[in-house]
Amino acid sequence: MPRRYLSCFSSNLSFPPGPKGLPVLGNLLDLNGSQPWISFTQWASTRGDVIYCRLFGRQIIVLQSQEVAKALLEHRSSIYSDRPPLSTIKAIGSEFNSAQLRYSDEWRLHRRIFHQSFRPEAAKDYLPLQLRKARQLLQGIIESPERYQRHIELFASSVIMSAVYDYEAKLNDDPLLLTAEKAIKVFLEMASPKTSAILETFPFLLRLPSWFPGASFKRLAIQSQKNAAAMVNIPFHYARERAMTATSNQCMISESFKRLDTRGNADEFELALKSSSATAFIAGVETTASTITVFVLAMMLYPDVQKRAQDEIDAVIGDQLPTFEDRSSLPYVEAVLRETLRWHPVFPLGLPHYTTDSDVYNGHHIPKDAIVMANIWAMSKDELQYPNPDDFKPERFFMADGQLNDDTVDFPFGFGRRVCVGKYFADASLWISIASLLAVFRFMKPLDNEGKEIDPIFQWSTGLISHPESLPCRVNPRHPDMTAHKLADLIDLSA
Ligand code: HEM
Repeated sequence: MPRRYLSCFSSNLSFPPGPKGLPVLGNLLDLNGSQPWISFTQWASTRGDVIYCRLFGRQIIVLQSQEVAKALLEHRSSIYSDRPPLSTIKAIGSEFNSAQLRYSDEWRLHRRIFHQSFRPEAAKDYLPLQLRKARQLLQGIIESPERYQRHIELFASSVIMSAVYDYEAKLNDDPLLLTAEKAIKVFLEMASPKTSAILETFPFLLRLPSWFPGASFKRLAIQSQKNAAAMVNIPFHYARERAMTATSNQCMISESFKRLDTRGNADEFELALKSSSATAFIAGVETTASTITVFVLAMMLYPDVQKRAQDEIDAVIGDQLPTFEDRSSLPYVEAVLRETLRWHPVFPLGLPHYTTDSDVYNGHHIPKDAIVMANIWAMSKDELQYPNPDDFKPERFFMADGQLNDDTVDFPFGFGRRVCVGKYFADASLWISIASLLAVFRFMKPLDNEGKEIDPIFQWSTGLISHPESLPCRVNPRHPDMTAHKLADLIDLSA
């Protein structure tokens, strides 16, 4: 009897199909360690949209289509809403992270706090702030276009700092932003699929004395704990103080304290609020900044798309700057945003879910305590839904009558009860930044020594989040007479 059947004790059903693995390493040798979503997508091509594999003794189910992810993660969410227990969480000081909490009352409290601040109706309160930050982004880029990627990162982090803590970050070397960015960098390094798999399998690496030769993980972990403590505590105390003395503008912290139910446990609530605020930063900054960078890449590679979006903006709002009121009048810009999210999803495997019970799907056994991953990458490359998926083609979102279709590209934000809680906020940040950048700048390929355009040379980051690193791009104002001064006047006029 095949090994696959033998290992399936709880029923006579087989596991879903998957590559044959070695006894200890499982399917590790078949896996592209820095971009596992690509291997998973290849495995799916001959095996269907639910794949089973083993890595380092863990059972892993990969869901390759939106249909199956919805069928399991949404429609059977009572079984699929946990997160895997990871021994690295404590070691790197990340116990506070709402996104990694087990499916529990503690997670429910975090989720409620998030939901109250970022549900669609509440997220609208942040639109003026997002508009203001998008304009700061334009000002930053016009002053130093060569640092455009840094300005995008600053936009993504300062918009969250303001929304969560009502903290107005300085444009240069803001101490709170630097602390948080440092923490995120180490977290992402430690949480990359490759590193976390190594640490889960060889946990002693985290117990070696930090002076021990080769104990780099241990040293990183200690660094990470320190960074995490600073990132969680410092901005929270700042915001709490202001909320208590009623000097704070509207933000997640001040609004949550106003809503504090005095019948509940105040300490528990405060800890949950502190933790979820820091999580918003970790979850929201890299994802947002990376998506905007993917947009820049697409504009460079597809100048006709860029021009069509800019023509639409010119026709609808002339030489003003876009506001959220213009959104419904700019369908092509809307399609550019959808296509950006689809063309290169920056969070290609999202976050792992974990089964709390066994299940049967399409005649296959899904075990309890299995890691379940939604392969967002594979969904974005679904040839049936998105023909020629590697092409950046916003036109795919229009129906024959010229209206936008109803595919709002939600899958990059995940599924079920653990779906991204910041998705409406992220959507608004992305739309206003993209529309504003299109209105003011042209993004062009770099030039070679002879002044000829060349394709940009860059690398995709590896790890949890995938984005172009050090992407060379010529960013020029679309109108030669647009100067920093003129832009400032335009911003003042429209304020
Ligand atoms: C382009 C931007 C973003 C993308 C692509 C994105 C994507 C995702 C994905 C794929 C997940 C995992 C969902 C699942 O488990 O099925 C997630 C979870 C999460 N996201 Fe986002 N996200 C973005 C921005 C944000 C922002 C701005 C915030 C906060 C303001 C945020 C907060 C969270 C939180 C707290 C979770 C964990 C939810 C839970 O475990 O219950 N995200 N996000």
